[in-house]
Amino acid sequence: VDDNTPPQKLSSRNLEGVAKYIKDGKARKIVVMTGAGISTSAGIPDFRSSDTGLYANLARLNLPYAEAVFDISYFRNNPHPFYTLAHELYPGRYRPTISHSFLKLLHQKGLLLKLFTQNIDCLEREAGVPEDIIVEAHGSFAKQSCIDCKTPYPHDLMQKAIHEKQVPHCQQENCKGLVKPDIVFFGEALPSDFFDNRYLLSQADLCIIMGTSLSVHPFASLPQFVGESVPRVLINLEQVGGIGSRTDDVLLLGDCDEGVRKLAKACGWLEELEALWVTT
Ligand code: APR
Repeated sequence: VDDNTPPQKLSSRNLEGVAKYIKDGKARKIVVMTGAGISTSAGIPDFRSSDTGLYANLARLNLPYAEAVFDISYFRNNPHPFYTLAHELYPGRYRPTISHSFLKLLHQKGLLLKLFTQNIDCLEREAGVPEDIIVEAHGSFAKQSCIDCKTPYPHDLMQKAIHEKQVPHCQQENCKGLVKPDIVFFGEALPSDFFDNRYLLSQADLCIIMGTSLSVHPFASLPQFVGESVPRVLINLEQVGGIGSRTDDVLLLGDCDEGVRKLAKACGWLEELEALWVTT
C-alpha cells in the first residue's frame, strides 16, 4: 500500500521534538488558539471542568440549563443571571498567568503570527500581546452596546452597572433596549475579524492549542485549517478535538502553566519567560 502520509516534520512527536523544531528556526509563523484553561490559575473558572467549571456552579442562578447564562434569547427575557455572573467575571481583578506571558514571549521573538482566543477576560492584552495580533473570537468585556439599536454604551456607566449588579439600558430615548458587553452569546454571530483571519491558519508553520475543550463551533474547527504536515501541539489537561490524529500532532497533556514552562525551558527561554511574567 503506498502510504502517501507526508514525511514527519518533527524529529520526535514530543516536547523535545517541538523545541528542536522551534530552535532550528522552522517555526516562524506560529498560530495559537486559547480557551478558558489558560486563565484558571488566574482564578477565573473555566466552563466545563466537572467540579470547578462555571457551568457546574451556576445552580444559584436558577437557569433552565447552564449555557443559558450566555444565550441571547434567554438574556432578552432575563438579563439578571448574566449580570450577576458578570460582576464576578469582570476584568480588572485578575492578572495574566505564565501561559499568557508565554504568548507575549512568542510575540517578542517575532514568532507569533496570530492568536485566536475564546476568552473574554482580556488577559492576553494585559499580558502585552498587541491587539492587532489577537482575534477575540467570542468578543470581550472591552466594549458594550444596545442589543436592539446597537448604540455603543459608555464604558464607565457599564463598570458602574456591573459593580452595582444593575442591568443597564440603552440611553437612546426611543429605544431603552438592554445593554450587553460585546461578548458573543450563543445565537449570535462571531465578529468578522474571526472569519477574515481564519486563512492565516493555512500559512502557519506551527499551531499551538492551549486550555480549550474545542467544543464550541466555529472556533473548534480552526485546527482543521492548519496545513496537513504542520505540527499541531495540544497543551491541555485532556485530549480534545481529534488532535493527535495527524502525523505531526503532539500531545502535551497536563497543566498549561507547567507545559509552557517545560517548553520554554527546552527552548532555552525559561529565565526570560519567568522574568516577563514577574513584570506583568
Ligand atoms: N491546564 C491545562 N488545561 C486546562 C486547565 C489547566 N490549568 N484548566 C482547564 N483546562 C482544560 C480543560 O480540561 C478543558 O479541556 O481547558 C479546557 C477548558 O474547556 P472549557 O471549559 O470548555 O472552556 P473553552 O474551551 O474555552 O470554552 C469554549 O464555550 O461557553 C463557551 O463561549 C464560551 O468561549 C467559551 C467556549
